[in-house]
Amino acid sequence: AGLLPFEHEPYHRYSDPTVAEAQRAAFRSVREQHVGRTLPLIIGGREEHGDGTTAVRNPADTRETVWYAQNATPDQLERAVQAATDAFEEWRYSDPLQRASIFKRAATLLRARRLEFNAVMTLENGKNWTEADGEVAESVDHFEVFAREALRWAQGKPVAPMPDEHVTTVYEPLGVVACISPWNFPSAIPLGMALGAIAAGNTVIWKPAPETPLSSYLLVELLFEAGLPRGVIQFLTGTNDVLGDPLVDHPRVRMIAFTGSKAVGCRIYERAARVQPGQTWLKRVIAEMGGKDPTVVCADADVDAAALGIVQAAFGYSGQKCSACSRVIAEADVYDDLLEKVVSLTRTLRGGLPEDNADLGPVIHERSAERIMAALAGKHGDARLVLGGDRPDTGERTGGYVSPTILADVAPGDSLFQEELFGPVLTFTRAESWEHAIALANDSEYGLTASFYSRDPAKIAAARQRMHVGNLYVNRKCTGALSGTHAFGGYGMSGTNAKVGGPDYLFWFLQTKTIAQRY
Ligand code: SER
Repeated sequence: AGLLPFEHEPYHRYSDPTVAEAQRAAFRSVREQHVGRTLPLIIGGREEHGDGTTAVRNPADTRETVWYAQNATPDQLERAVQAATDAFEEWRYSDPLQRASIFKRAATLLRARRLEFNAVMTLENGKNWTEADGEVAESVDHFEVFAREALRWAQGKPVAPMPDEHVTTVYEPLGVVACISPWNFPSAIPLGMALGAIAAGNTVIWKPAPETPLSSYLLVELLFEAGLPRGVIQFLTGTNDVLGDPLVDHPRVRMIAFTGSKAVGCRIYERAARVQPGQTWLKRVIAEMGGKDPTVVCADADVDAAALGIVQAAFGYSGQKCSACSRVIAEADVYDDLLEKVVSLTRTLRGGLPEDNADLGPVIHERSAERIMAALAGKHGDARLVLGGDRPDTGERTGGYVSPTILADVAPGDSLFQEELFGPVLTFTRAESWEHAIALANDSEYGLTASFYSRDPAKIAAARQRMHVGNLYVNRKCTGALSGTHAFGGYGMSGTNAKVGGPDYLFWFLQTKTIAQRY
């Protein structure tokens, strides 16, 4: 619709020493510029202090505080919702081409600053260079995708014509959208939700995860620099007692876009259903929640390719992606061979600092590491621990380091097979047949991503129909969805299946008006 098809942003090649040195230089400059600073809130375009601050720790060494974020007060939440409501009266009528131009300009600005954004992310959430780079590239893609989507949805949809009436179906924005985002994708996830809102003509309350405010703050500033009117986004950080339930319950919030845990997503969904005094709409909620993502390996599969895909999807960012592979389900004929290959590839992963681009860094918090260890310590029937199961010695460095862990012969009823752990833990389960493997893969309340490895077109065709997931990957890993190509979102308790980066995503942020006009 007026713009050329875009190409996905290429990744940096860190094997090139010049690129690696540029990334190291970006860490030095980010440390100089940002360590020790306190980020402001932004309400109605103006920067504000809150009531006290929250420290952000470097998860790779929690002795280091990197920066601070403000704690917004109830009054500031109130004023932020008011400011977003006021700004909506203008932004709702903004020209879609203006919105697209802002996103195009933002893409250009972000392209020039990718290494800096990568470094910020690494310091606040412990992603290594490669993972951070993939995510910031996805953020550039989001700008390009949403520029096109803003224009496309502005065209409306055709209807059956009438002889004496001019009839159109047009899409209009909803109002104030609260975007509540997680720490594991602190750039691409809040940005995807916020751009969905803004591209459609809504205004935003942008609430990043407390662990990762700077990745978000820099994107908000970048959008303003690209020309977004400053009232369109309110940037709020703070504690859950102010920004949790009260934000969700607020009668002038029209929609909540959430990505995070199942527990919080369910709570939001339930609370948002209650019509508050003074509220004049039914709130819309989109919620992307967890996963317990399986990889099925059939007896005829390319076992080497499967092993590589499994290791990348299970242990990239220490398994802290909702898309991460956490369950391998393999037919008996290849089970032992696959297990051995996965274990030996996993042994080659280098543990260490994300800032040095180590393969395996920490999980986000010490307490997350403890939670994972407690889950492993429970009773697990005949399951065999094949690798890891402990916490590596990191010397003086403190953080949630967990060794990559592989368990074999895990029964489908086991909590390790059913519950999302959000860490570097992978289970293996033997299937009697490929059909049984699909049944086991589907034996989950979640349905986010899955991989299916086979060379047999008939099995693949069956998997395409029967696998109960929003994102099915055949003969490839189950992480790394690309905006504009792999619309992302799951089935079942993985959420509302809003499918960010896909052709229908903007519809969630719009309402439909039919206008029949007699000449
Ligand atoms: N979109 C990410 C992926 O596909 C997860 O949020 O890995």
